[in-house]
Amino acid sequence: MKQALGPGALLLRGFAAAADAQVLAGLQEVLEQAPFRHMITPGGYRMSVALTNCGSLGWVTDRTGYRYDAADPETGKHWPAMPAAFLRLARDAAAHAGFDAFVPDACLVNQYLPGARLTLHQDKNERDFSAPIVSVSLGVPAVFLFGGLKRSDRPSRVPLEHGDVVVWGGPDRLRYHGVQPLKAAHHYLLGEQRINLTFRKAG
Ligand code: SIN
Ligand code: FE2
Repeated sequence: MKQALGPGALLLRGFAAAADAQVLAGLQEVLEQAPFRHMITPGGYRMSVALTNCGSLGWVTDRTGYRYDAADPETGKHWPAMPAAFLRLARDAAAHAGFDAFVPDACLVNQYLPGARLTLHQDKNERDFSAPIVSVSLGVPAVFLFGGLKRSDRPSRVPLEHGDVVVWGGPDRLRYHGVQPLKAAHHYLLGEQRINLTFRKAG
């Protein structure tokens, strides 16, 4: 089922569910090479969300700022390659939302445990805003906040469940978004956690 969240934003309910086993197998491989870690924001706060990356670029933050980096700052090694199942899912979802030929070079993997949240922000460290953001939800349900182009615009609350995919681009590419503190729950494949895969064309 498709639900429009804006002129360039679409929620594809359950889109990733059929491929979840392949995606979770890919995730296991990524995590073996680059485990989740809590990063520090430029303001000095430890993020409640734990993260890692795969693809040729990875999103990182530390006291000096946010950026994309080809290397994992913890190991100095390149981020793991993007698993084929990730790439396929991201391209298919983008195409369903009207963004053809999306080739992500970065996949940020976020892990939410109960209480973890993401405050409203724009994804704007990418070089080229013509490519959409493709965001895949797995595991425990969460409430996604989808705001406007100004931080002060009141966000809509969008419940996201395992397999849901949100794609935003075009006129909606720079909309503020975030995630409300995760409520404790159990998912039969992922236990207590919510995993979010965010695909971007960063470089
Ligand atoms: C993000 O904005 O990076 C993640 C959004 C989400 O977890 O749904
Ligand atoms: Fe984001």
